[in-house]
Amino acid sequence: IRVAVIGGGQNCEHDIGVATAAAVCAALPGERYTAVPITIGRDGTWHGSDGLPFPDGPAGALRLLSTCHVVFPAVHGPRGEDGALAAWCELAGLPYVGSGVRAGALAMDKHTTKLLARDLGIATARAVCVTRPDGPVPLPLPVVVKPVAAGSSHGVRRVDAPQEYAPAVAAALDLDSRVLVEEFVDGREVDVAVLRQADGTLLVGPALQIVTAPGTLFDTTDKYDGTADFRIPADLTPTERETLKNAALTLFEALGCEGTARFDFFLDGSRIVLNEINTMPGMTAESQVPKMFAAVGLGYAELLTELVEGALR
Ligand code: DAL
Ligand code: MG
Repeated sequence: IRVAVIGGGQNCEHDIGVATAAAVCAALPGERYTAVPITIGRDGTWHGSDGLPFPDGPAGALRLLSTCHVVFPAVHGPRGEDGALAAWCELAGLPYVGSGVRAGALAMDKHTTKLLARDLGIATARAVCVTRPDGPVPLPLPVVVKPVAAGSSHGVRRVDAPQEYAPAVAAALDLDSRVLVEEFVDGREVDVAVLRQADGTLLVGPALQIVTAPGTLFDTTDKYDGTADFRIPADLTPTERETLKNAALTLFEALGCEGTARFDFFLDGSRIVLNEINTMPGMTAESQVPKMFAAVGLGYAELLTELVEGALR
């Protein structure tokens, strides 16, 4: 079975998309799958398995894709995880791993995610959407400023003083035309992953706690410099565990997710707050989702197999 693994991406998470794709290619069991790597450059150029750009651009990529049985999109962030790659596969008639166009687009938009979650009775941090750096800080300080659609904490800043606000919004506006100004939630950060197994049933992994110093953000540097400290299972009461699991399952189904998705929460005392949803979460063997499932006996290669077989079902 030829699996086209599309990595990289035309966005700020390009490097993570390269790492995820390389890890997936290396771990797909070779007795059943042949990985066909394709990379989207930061500039949007498509590169084939030989690393060279297709002379005729995406048309060449499409020709190669049409020789494959299934696509594994390993692009995080805009023009990938936001439904763009799913749309490409839908139009080309190719089965693909993971969420479809709508779930990807809804989850990529952190403002829409909040509206949806709140309607389902799942709390989120109070936030105001802005499009300009001028104007008063719309919420009491401290606040967190972030692009509506980005990832890996790119463009995210904590603002403690009024003079830090405009530069933070301007930095976030470099990545998206809409910016969220959020109340700062000083809580434990806990992730929950849901997997649609190849037999169609849903599996929720054990919650993972990200251990950070109190009052700090788990930022882009912490995420990828190898120092991230994960605790599996997270230190939770049975009630917290159940609430988080139910919230993740409710969101997975309400958005219509497929494959796997990671739901990131904050626990502020007894208050459980959804931070965001990743429909194409980091998927190297060291990333949160593979670690969570490995903790319940579903190893990395088996997880990838579930995802690919699920797409072929
Ligand atoms: N957005 C990054 C890749 C993650 O969720 O893991
Ligand atoms: Mg994210």
